[in-house]
Amino acid sequence: MKLLVTGGAGFIGSNFVHRTLAKHPEWKLVVLDKLTYAGNLKNLEPELGEGRCEFVQMDICDRAVLDPLRGCDAVIHFAAESHVDRSIEDASAFVRTNVDGTYNLLQACREAGVPRLVHVSTDEVYGSLGDEGLFSEESPLQPNSPYAATKAASDLGVLAYVHTHKLPALVTRCSNNYGPYQFPEKFIPLMIAQAMAGERLPVYGKGSNVRDWVHVDDHCAALDVVLQQGREGEVYNIGGGCEMRNLEVAKLILKALGKSESLIQFVTDRPGHDLRYAINCEKLGREFGWQPQVQFDQGLADTIAWYRDNQQWLNDVRSGQYRDYFQKHYVQREKTFAQ
Ligand code: NAD
Ligand code: TYD
Repeated sequence: MKLLVTGGAGFIGSNFVHRTLAKHPEWKLVVLDKLTYAGNLKNLEPELGEGRCEFVQMDICDRAVLDPLRGCDAVIHFAAESHVDRSIEDASAFVRTNVDGTYNLLQACREAGVPRLVHVSTDEVYGSLGDEGLFSEESPLQPNSPYAATKAASDLGVLAYVHTHKLPALVTRCSNNYGPYQFPEKFIPLMIAQAMAGERLPVYGKGSNVRDWVHVDDHCAALDVVLQQGREGEVYNIGGGCEMRNLEVAKLILKALGKSESLIQFVTDRPGHDLRYAINCEKLGREFGWQPQVQFDQGLADTIAWYRDNQQWLNDVRSGQYRDYFQKHYVQREKTFAQ
């Protein structure tokens, strides 16, 4: 299997790369990533040094994506602009990457005759739930944020290519992930980083919004199954079955780090803030026996420990120093690949 991973230097993509290389010793990976602010080659240490993982710095909007796609047995598409608050500030990069970039990738997959494409999407395309109910694969698409709207557009593009061009593709929609290597602008790593630094934890509104948390390892395990066994043209929901209010999560983090709840600062709510996400992922269980394995308490403790043990990674990301890494280290490594 030669698998191309778009967005493999980001949070979920890099976790997927680590897991896949360990799980499938016979597979070769090509990581294609533009290295935006969210892409960090340090997330791929030490794999980049070994022969089974090649790195290509490229924008998915570039027509040249056709070249690395040729000869690949499958593509898993993580690359996206992914942070809701940034999409509220300015949605242009979201439209460009998530919509135009995905269409460019679809066209290139068609031209290259790629035999399988897994498009990694989000439960946010379904919009917001009230106090009751779960999102199923049949729930209507009602995206509320510009981020979610661009992801919904990309999902529909993938399904249209399946229908029209018989592109062998499928879509997954997962709930909120947490775990190592998550960029500390997202809720859980931001709260951990602030708490570790003894700084205020900004909780939007009253902290009563609910998210369904799934550990990134469980998401990656589901993607592995779907990549190998998922049916073309299908949508598969992935969730953790773990609904938590934001305030509860912030308090758990403070408790685990021995910090005072007085660090919590309620701040102005996010415009259009979705109240609640919760996922029905029975289809994945029924078809493939997949179930989330990581309990939230344990997963959160492990995640906090990871950020504590990887303070340098966190400092580099928070100070912006990780951006120098490509220049300093990769140019040397590129020579290694060429040999
Ligand atoms: P991330 O922001 O951490 O990583 C995104 C990666 O894509 C980065 O490495 C970035 O450099 C790369 N990228 C961005 N624009 C690109 C472009 N134009 N060309 C090539 N590469 C580009 O995101 P993440 O949290 O790892 O999410 C990965 C995917 O999973 C996204 O598609 C997201 O919508 C989806 N998803 C995320 C979550 C979550 O909780 N984080 C949940 C469900 C689905
Ligand atoms: P986030 O990690 O941005 O994921 P998403 O908005 O895609 O679900 O946010 C998770 C929840 O945490 C969401 O309800 C917004 C809230 N939140 C805060 O309260 N404070 C923050 O600083 C951030 C980034 C998010």
